[in-house]
Amino acid sequence: MNILVTGGTGFIGSHCCVALLEAGYSVIVADNLSNSKAEVIDQIQAITNKQIPFYQIDVTDSDLVESLFLENHFDGVIHFAGLKAVGESEEEPLRYYFNNTVSTMVLAKACIKFRVQKFIFSSSATVYGENKVPFVETIPLMPISNPYGETKYMSERILSDTAKANPDFMVVNLRYFNPVGAHESGLIGEAPRGVPNNLMPYIAQVAKGKRDKLRVFGDDYSTPDGTGVRDYIHVMDLAEGHVAALENIKSGANVYNLGTGQGISVMEMVKTFEQVNGVKIPYEIVPRRPGDIAESYADPSKANRELGWKAARSLEDMCRDAWRFEKNYTE
Ligand code: WQD
Repeated sequence: MNILVTGGTGFIGSHCCVALLEAGYSVIVADNLSNSKAEVIDQIQAITNKQIPFYQIDVTDSDLVESLFLENHFDGVIHFAGLKAVGESEEEPLRYYFNNTVSTMVLAKACIKFRVQKFIFSSSATVYGENKVPFVETIPLMPISNPYGETKYMSERILSDTAKANPDFMVVNLRYFNPVGAHESGLIGEAPRGVPNNLMPYIAQVAKGKRDKLRVFGDDYSTPDGTGVRDYIHVMDLAEGHVAALENIKSGANVYNLGTGQGISVMEMVKTFEQVNGVKIPYEIVPRRPGDIAESYADPSKANRELGWKAARSLEDMCRDAWRFEKNYTE
């Protein structure tokens, strides 16, 4: 089966390409390289020893997407391509609403026209907002009030309504918690441009000496050690969750949490990273980051039950693999 992976040179998309190829699928990647490099295609090919056709296109462009679907037969689409920086989304809301929702609509429209029946969407735990943990798929959503989170919520709705109106169009919305780590080869991983927003790449850059210290955003939350608690999931576990979703897709629009179900605090992450990698992470407690919530972690039982998928890699694996990639990586 041939799968179109949009955003396939990005952090999660590239790892998903590896998992798909290793599961026997063929893959075609479409990416505009706005936040990644074409060399990632070479790395995926090196890891899997498989060839991947690559199209450098913007999937908000309906003419280019139409040509892509005319030129290739797809059995499914996994849509990762999107802008994903929460802070940036508040500075540039229109760019986020356009890019993230128009790309979803353009791709869904092409799937209906070309009778591509399987659509998997990269959603986010952000849609839960400040709900009671652990987050279950059925709780009322209240996207954390930022354009990025709203675009994920809107895209889920666009896809769910399209699936309702087109019985042959099957949708899975996957709500990621906090993807971290890297493929064990160290060839692909998380390489954000500029100063990392997220915790793990920032810690890795401190360990490498690229940043002088970690700023811990608040230690006055109502959590065991006062620092923010998140559900960190190894990016390869997340990638394998997409293969499981593809293999168990059913009619309508289904939604699953992809998380471990375990909440880890910032300080627990720092200590684990230090112990596993034998490095020191200097840090300073600073005021809370606006928009952050105290706790976010999944109830992953629906994915465990219905997809036969469960995160298997440990926090130690996440820290070890993230550090191996950071050490290998050159800008
Ligand atoms: C994790 C914890 C911070 C950096 C975001 C998006 C989410 C998804 C993942 C795209 C929090 C603390 C962080 C730092 C810190 N992105 N922290 N110092 O905010 O849970 O989720 O990224 O899909 O949609 O919202 O992840 O890694 O930024 O923060 O103390 O330099 O680490 O306060 O408690 P977050 P994060």
